[in-house]
Amino acid sequence: MANTLSNMLPASKDKYSLWDKLFIWKDRLIASRQFQREVSRIPLLSSISQHRAKGVFDLMAGFVYSQILLGCVRINLFEHLADGPLTIDEIATKVDLPFKGLERLLLGAQAIDLIETRQGRFALGTLGAPLVGNHALLSMIEHHSALYQDLRDPITLLRGDLKEKALESYWPYITEHSEELKSLSAVEKVAQYSELMSASLPLVADEIIDAYDFNQHQCLLDIGGGQGTFISLLSQHTKNLKFKLFDLPGVATLAQDILNQQLGQGRVDCIGGDFFNEALPTGADIVTLIRVIFDHDDTRVKQLLKSVYQSLPLGGRLLVAEPMADTPELPAMGQAYFGFYLLAMGRGRPRSVQEISNFLHEAGFQKVRSIKNMMKINAQIVIAEK
Ligand SMILES: C[S@@+](CC[C@H](N)C(=O)[O-])C[C@H]1O[C@@H](n2cnc3c(N)ncnc32)[C@H](O)[C@@H]1O
Repeated sequence: MANTLSNMLPASKDKYSLWDKLFIWKDRLIASRQFQREVSRIPLLSSISQHRAKGVFDLMAGFVYSQILLGCVRINLFEHLADGPLTIDEIATKVDLPFKGLERLLLGAQAIDLIETRQGRFALGTLGAPLVGNHALLSMIEHHSALYQDLRDPITLLRGDLKEKALESYWPYITEHSEELKSLSAVEKVAQYSELMSASLPLVADEIIDAYDFNQHQCLLDIGGGQGTFISLLSQHTKNLKFKLFDLPGVATLAQDILNQQLGQGRVDCIGGDFFNEALPTGADIVTLIRVIFDHDDTRVKQLLKSVYQSLPLGGRLLVAEPMADTPELPAMGQAYFGFYLLAMGRGRPRSVQEISNFLHEAGFQKVRSIKNMMKINAQIVIAEK
């Protein structure tokens, strides 16, 4: 916590500076009913105040919008509209909803730009069109119903008093007990989350593959590599790179089967184990940690980074990629979205590029730097060298 809040300590010991007092005055003015009414009569100021009122309304109504989106996904609305606009009667024949309920959903979806009307028919809207066939986003939207169950009383969650969190059981590796981790050796216990990760990985993988040249390496080890989707996608872009994957035993078994089928028998060596309690495989000159460290608390992340450092040869590299706390295009994603997602999950926190870089230096790495990628919403990338 000290890391994230230390740069917010007051600059002076005096209670409030003149600057603070000016802002307090401004905030009180904005909150005054009379000021709001007067501003609404002045053209330029009224558009600013309407914009802010809309912002507050959207925050309040966000859950309703999410549920409308989930409703559309559950009736496969975007797929039904993929081949062209349909009338409400035509949609009604394809979905299991009473007419009135369907009408309510369509009007709500239209109001938030998921769909639109064209000459009496419903068509894909600007926000609905990108969802067609987008397995990554559709799986995430469905998955969020579990998150929203856990978030229904944020204060209980923040106090740490919420018993039986849906996300905690969805991600069974979030435990500090190595015995519990060992019990995850059965594929059935890890298959659900591994499939979700695999579905959403292509968005992140594209960012990494476009930003970094893996052909300069001989062997890559993907730690916490899930069911092998990153390796599978990367193998299409590299010529001679060898691959290893390390994950919990159940996940490694799953990955080995999938990668054998996709890339041929024996092309990838998938090793099962617990990266907090076992030494990591050696032999790779590049290690990747993709969407792994944000799941874990600081002490464990530092332990894992040290372990990666030990597994690498001199000159070997580590590439860390995940959504980070300081994403300029979408500031709310870090501390708001991931902050609360990971709280519900039970471990970890979003970290800034700077914090991750500090951890890497502490583990012994040098030449730590972030590399540019297009869509920082999907992931930011930090690279370091032993
Ligand atoms: C959020 S998933 C990311 C998977 C993949 N890298 C991706 O981006 O799709 C985290 C991965 O870390 C693995 N993992 C978590 N704790 C682990 C541990 N103690 N030892 C080995 N793997 C672990 C999980 O099984 C899971 O596959």
